[in-house]
Amino acid sequence: MTDLTFTVEPGGALRGRLRVPGDKSISHRAIMLGALAEGMTAVTGFLEGEDCLATLRVFHAMGVRIDGPDQGRVTVHGVGLHGLRAPTGTLDMGNSGTSMRLMSGLLAGQAFDTVLSGDASLNRRPMRRVTEPLALMGARIEATESGTAPLRMHGGQRLTGIDYSLPVASAQVKSCLLLAGLYAAGVTRITEPAPTRDHTERMLAGFGYPLAREGDRIVAIAGGGRLAGTEIDVPADISSAAFFLVGASIAPGSDLLLEHVGVNPTRTGVLDILRLMGADIEVLNRRLAGGEPVADLRVRHAPLHGVRIPEDLVPLAIDEFPALFIAAACAKGITVLTGAEELRVKESDRIQVMADGLTALGIAAGPTTDGIVIQGGVLSGGTVDSHGDHRIAMSFAMAALRSRDPLSIRDCANVNTSFPDFMTLARAAGLNLMAREAA
Ligand code: S3P
Repeated sequence: MTDLTFTVEPGGALRGRLRVPGDKSISHRAIMLGALAEGMTAVTGFLEGEDCLATLRVFHAMGVRIDGPDQGRVTVHGVGLHGLRAPTGTLDMGNSGTSMRLMSGLLAGQAFDTVLSGDASLNRRPMRRVTEPLALMGARIEATESGTAPLRMHGGQRLTGIDYSLPVASAQVKSCLLLAGLYAAGVTRITEPAPTRDHTERMLAGFGYPLAREGDRIVAIAGGGRLAGTEIDVPADISSAAFFLVGASIAPGSDLLLEHVGVNPTRTGVLDILRLMGADIEVLNRRLAGGEPVADLRVRHAPLHGVRIPEDLVPLAIDEFPALFIAAACAKGITVLTGAEELRVKESDRIQVMADGLTALGIAAGPTTDGIVIQGGVLSGGTVDSHGDHRIAMSFAMAALRSRDPLSIRDCANVNTSFPDFMTLARAAGLNLMAREAA
């Protein structure tokens, strides 16, 4: 495998206007629901990153015609809830937890068997959180002894709705059960310990599928309905915008406009946390695009200070912590994160890998079981390892804006899973970034 190393010269500022690629969560769901719908679904702004392409290929393998992607345009020729065909081989989900967990719910209700697998990182991640509730619904799934993929799904099972309280705040588990609920007899009712991203719920409504929401933590769906093909405009991904929000906040002289960013309130924890730290972010031109709120975000450099991050913001900023840790490293004082043990089971152990990287750059960063304590300071420079985690690679790239010496980041090829244009956009905005491939 090729190793991609990022090298970033220190200093600089981020300026201008840019649109980061489409939202990863929404792009996955557009393909999944589009495939299960009756009629065509036209998607614009689709994220052409490896994770979403993995989802797209899985539906190709089950006989769904999908035109594109071509500059973010995708047309899905829906086959209806019962129109998927048995694939001939293992379904490869690559690095994508969203593909694996959502597809396990969708596939639990099919008439045929499937095997779901992924890369080394994905096949280490916990899957009992989906296989256990699916089994309660009547699914038959075999996993490894440690509860990880490959997952062998036995088709032809009769699913029944359940009333389930999620033990972890996870939109992936909630969405998995909603998708299984499409195939279940009766009602599947899910209660979350805290609100998580609600793109599945919004999109099901967009496809004309009835759904009952009670407050912001309970959702119920009845099986046996139909999805009608629709149009989906995917906003720019706030999780990708986050690197630029942090970069512009920490780099003196920065003034950046991020266009058409999804600002669904279940995703905007990063804005709240950065503002608590003193960031200067304006939310402009709020509007709705296909059932999802979007806005332009203007961010200018501001001196940041450390904060104790409110635990209720954790699920609303779950993917943005690697970037936020860079903000904390550049802030005055101490930042404390608690209640975020989920970070240990993402594409990498994001608490440990970030703590190791920050420590290597001369920052006092102490991992705890469920979070981290970071003392702001001066970033030296040197080499860090992203452990193949896209968000860690891009976060450290931004850290160079404030480092004393050049920064090298190893194992960056997976940036392509969520942000294929990162290098081009970051350079255009003012980051002195170069990439080098080594065999
Ligand atoms: C996602 C949910 C989150 C997030 C992931 C995408 C989704 O995972 O980390 O990147 O699209 O539903 P969890 O639901 O496991 O927290």
